[in-house]
Amino acid sequence: MSIKKSVVLFSGNGSNLKNLLENSSNIKDKLVYEGAFTNNPKAGGIEICQNFNLDVCVCNDEDINSELSKFLNQHNPDLIVLAGYMKIVPPEIVNQYSGKIVNIHPSLLPKYPGLNTYAKVLANHDVYNGATVHFVTCDLDQGPIIIQGKYTVPNGSDESSLQTLTHNAEHMIYPIAVKWFADNMIKMKGGKLYFNNKMIESPIVLLIE
Ligand code: GAR
Repeated sequence: MSIKKSVVLFSGNGSNLKNLLENSSNIKDKLVYEGAFTNNPKAGGIEICQNFNLDVCVCNDEDINSELSKFLNQHNPDLIVLAGYMKIVPPEIVNQYSGKIVNIHPSLLPKYPGLNTYAKVLANHDVYNGATVHFVTCDLDQGPIIIQGKYTVPNGSDESSLQTLTHNAEHMIYPIAVKWFADNMIKMKGGKLYFNNKMIESPIVLLIE
């Protein structure tokens, strides 16, 4: 079986990028990270790429999506990992790579798609929050869910403490989802998640103490 090629797209600190690279050795016979792309020349993730010797394409151009398209066509990846990529991937690219793009989002989707999730969790006094890995479709943050990490929101939480807890959840679930993809265990078909060829109706949830 050939080794799957993967690329990572990011815009910020890159803690998920770093965590994925740190957890890549156990899948190296099945999936390799070939390159990364960022729309943000000041992103902390650029230094992480350099530290891991991962080629990174830093897009300074106004026309980010045509640069992204070029980058993807050069790599022709089997998996595109969005790790804090804060731009909307245009429908042409989503359709070209359908079933090959995954995203991580800092809420228990379908709750709170879009931005400012921590403020929403606090404003609504939610008992739980977490993170979601899902396949990307043209509907923002609404593609089939692969795995969620769920934690109880402690009393007295603020946005910063929620971010810490959410990153912790993200760092647990994203490598699991990538490994499942590398092992051909998950697929998106007809807008649904298939796990070992069985359609999954409700999300797989990892409860975090
Ligand atoms: C993560 O919390 C991720 O869920 C979020 O950006 C953060 C990136 O952190 N993504 C989104 O909000 C996408 N809608 P990182 O740069 O430290 O990995």
